[in-house]
Order: sequence, then structure tokens, then C-alpha cells
Amino acid sequence: MEKLVIEGGYPLEGEVPISGSKNAALPIMAATLLAADNCRLDNVPRLRDVVTMCSLIEELGAQLKYTNGTVEVDTSELTQNEAPYDLVKKMRASVLVLGPLVARLGEARVSLPGGCAIGTRPINLHLEGLEALGAEIKLQEGTIYACASGLEGAEITLDFPSVGATENILMAASLASGETVIENAAREPEIADLARAINKMGGRVEGAGTDRILVEGVEKLHSLTHSILPDRIETGTYLTAGAISVGKVKTVKTDPGLLHSVLKKLKQSGMEVEVGENWIDLKANFPPRPVDIVTMPYPGFPTDMQAQFTAMLARSSGTSTVKETIFEDRFMHVLELERLGADIKIDGNWVTIHGVEKLEGAPVMATDLRASAALVLAGLAAEGETEVRRIYHLDRGYEKLEEKLKNLGAKLERQEAEGP
Ligand code: UD1
Repeated sequence: MEKLVIEGGYPLEGEVPISGSKNAALPIMAATLLAADNCRLDNVPRLRDVVTMCSLIEELGAQLKYTNGTVEVDTSELTQNEAPYDLVKKMRASVLVLGPLVARLGEARVSLPGGCAIGTRPINLHLEGLEALGAEIKLQEGTIYACASGLEGAEITLDFPSVGATENILMAASLASGETVIENAAREPEIADLARAINKMGGRVEGAGTDRILVEGVEKLHSLTHSILPDRIETGTYLTAGAISVGKVKTVKTDPGLLHSVLKKLKQSGMEVEVGENWIDLKANFPPRPVDIVTMPYPGFPTDMQAQFTAMLARSSGTSTVKETIFEDRFMHVLELERLGADIKIDGNWVTIHGVEKLEGAPVMATDLRASAALVLAGLAAEGETEVRRIYHLDRGYEKLEEKLKNLGAKLERQEAEGP
């Protein structure tokens, strides 16, 4: 198992190119299963989750090639309809093949994802949505069986704007007969990107990116060439790294339009932020000032930026509060941040953060993807050496993290960790 050893205390300075979005790449890769054709996706980040999705698509019988940020996949023949446990347990987003498979093959089996490091994360809304489209769903021995002899459009109102449920339903509805309306749909930009991809395949989706999505089902979808949109969470993470290290970071090849809520909070914390068409420049003239954060579905403040902001506010010049409303148990990073000298009190889904003047390096353990990013940011700002263990989580979501940070002047090394 590997660890990152960080020598903190150096301000980050320079330009960092942003990769394609993990959370757009995964559903769009799953959507290629809807077509019996050749699809090409560009700007696909080299990440462990993307490699897992490639393995899953190959396991289903498709021919796939993944080189230099491009996935070429021929989905004309699928020989399997099952997402096995060893892949689903590695990545919950494997459940995104359920909708496409049942729509295309009339039958699909996906192992239940089980619990994970940020709460229980049920998939009831995915299943209820597919049932509304006419799929019959059974749960047996830890596996979801879905079958349908032709899906039919329906009006579906989600109890909560779940990103994954919106995506699964949207994909399945694209091959259903008639019209589907998804009310209270999630509005994340990655859903709009998925809809753009499906429309390029001949689908008829309107309203993605709003809370009401209309899908006119079509009989067949065809080939696709699509470039994945930039990763707004990676962008936010590097900007926050600039803020916590009191540096100057310019993110390029990104889309500032996807980060309004994050940029607003960075400005409130005293950062100078300038944006251009595809870049964002952040300058920190002093340590961050305290701000209050409440995570919300898009366009609210993203839960995937909560841990990084918690780290930043631990080094701020006052008292902040952070409320997590999307996931239970998403404060695993707090105990680790305390090991670095942070002063944070957890009270249910709230934390109160009393900023400290200095963080001090220590060994810490990463527990999930964004928690790991938070620990790296804290390590960059801390005096002395921080060891972040279990960094395999980071490889799920940050392409070339060490290289990008080193180019910004960070001092860090990946090393083999002793012990489990
Ligand atoms: C996606 C993102 C993840 C992000 C999250 C919220 C991907 C691959 N992952 O995850 O990075 O943190 O959106 O922005 O895109 N819920 C239910 N029942 C369901 C589905 C969800 O109760 O059937 C609940 C979840 O437990 C959670 C909340 O809804 O509390 C949000 O989950 P959801 O939006 O579905 O997140 P994911 O799609 O899993």
C-alpha cells in the first residue's frame, strides 16, 4: 500500500490543467451500452474508477480500448448482463449499468453495492424509477435482478434529487417507448453532459440540468463521439489548495460556470478570484477568513468539496460552521485533521471549526476520496512532514495528483507504506 509524504509550508504557485470529469465520464461510459455501435469518448481522465468501469464494460462483452484519454468502445455485441460483486464493491458507480442493460437487453443483474465510507448510500430511488418504467425488480442473495419486456415512459417524481438515480432513469428512458418526465431531477452539470452524449447518439432528452427532464424514448441509439466536460471538483480542490497554502493558483482547461457556489465561498474567505472563458485564477494574500458552508444539491455548495473546505477553514483566521446535508457520516476526515492540530467539533451533521494559526505535520489515514484530498491540502499547509496513508482512494478521483502538485511547487513523494 502506498502513502504520500508531504513536506508542508510552501505556497503553491502556478498553472494547473484540469482533467475530464470523473462523475461525467462514468455515466457516459455506461450510456455507451445503450447503443449497439462504436463510441468514442475523449478527455477521459486516467483514474482507478474509470479503469474499473472499462473492466465492467469489457466483462459485459463489449470491445474496449483506452489510450491517452480516449475510450473507444464497440458495444455491438453484449454477451453478459451481470455486474459482478468484485467490480461493484470497488466502485459504487457500477450500478449505473443497471438502467442501460435492462433497457437494451431486457434483463440485468447488478450486485448490491453495500455500505461505504460515507454512510449507507441506498439505491432505492434508482430501483423505484426503473420499476415505474415497467422493469420488474427482485433482490436475491445480494444481487438486484431487473427484467422487462420493453420499458414504457412514465412520470417519475424523485423523493430526493439523486444524481445516480436521475442518470439511471434517464438512460433507461432513452430506449423506452413513449415519453418520460423526471421531476425533482438532480441538476448537476454531469447530468447535462450525459444528456448531450445521449442526444448525440440519437436520443431525445430535454431539460437536463434543470429539475424537470423530458425523455422521448427512441427505438435505437447509434455511435457517438464526445469530449467529457472538465472536472469541477478537481478544479475546486486545486483552488482550495492555493487558498490554504496562501499561494497563487490558476486552473486552466476548466469551466468557471460550473463552480459558482465554490467561487463565491472562496471570495467570501478573502481570496482574489478572476475568471476567463476556461480558466480561474486564485490569489491568496493572507490565510483564509472564516466562512459558513451548507452542502446542497447542485447548484448549491457540493458535498464533494466539503472535506477540502473543512481543511481550509481549519487554517482560517476565525470560527466557521459546515453543515453536511447530502451524506451521513461524511466527517471522517475531521478526526484525522485534528491529528494535524485542527480544532473542530462535530455535532451530528454540523461541525464548528475554530481556525488555528498553524497546522503541524503528522501521519494520517485517508478514508474516502474527498477526505483524502482534504488531508493532502492540510498537509501542504502544515509545518513539517505529513504522511497520508491509504492514498489508493486518491487514485480513484485525481489524475496525476503528485505531478500536478509538484508543478505548483509542492514538496511531496509517493512511497511504499510499511504494514497493512
Ligand atoms: C454522486 C457522485 C458523488 C457525489 C454525489 C452527490 C458520481 C459517480 N458520484 O453520487 O461524487 O458526492 O453524487 O453530489 O457521480 N439516495 C437515496 N436513495 C437513492 C439514491 C441516493 O436515499 O436511491 C441518497 C444518498 O444516500 C445520499 C443522497 O441521496 O444521501 C445523494 O446521493 P446521490 O445524489 O445519489 O449520489 P451518487 O449518485 O451516489
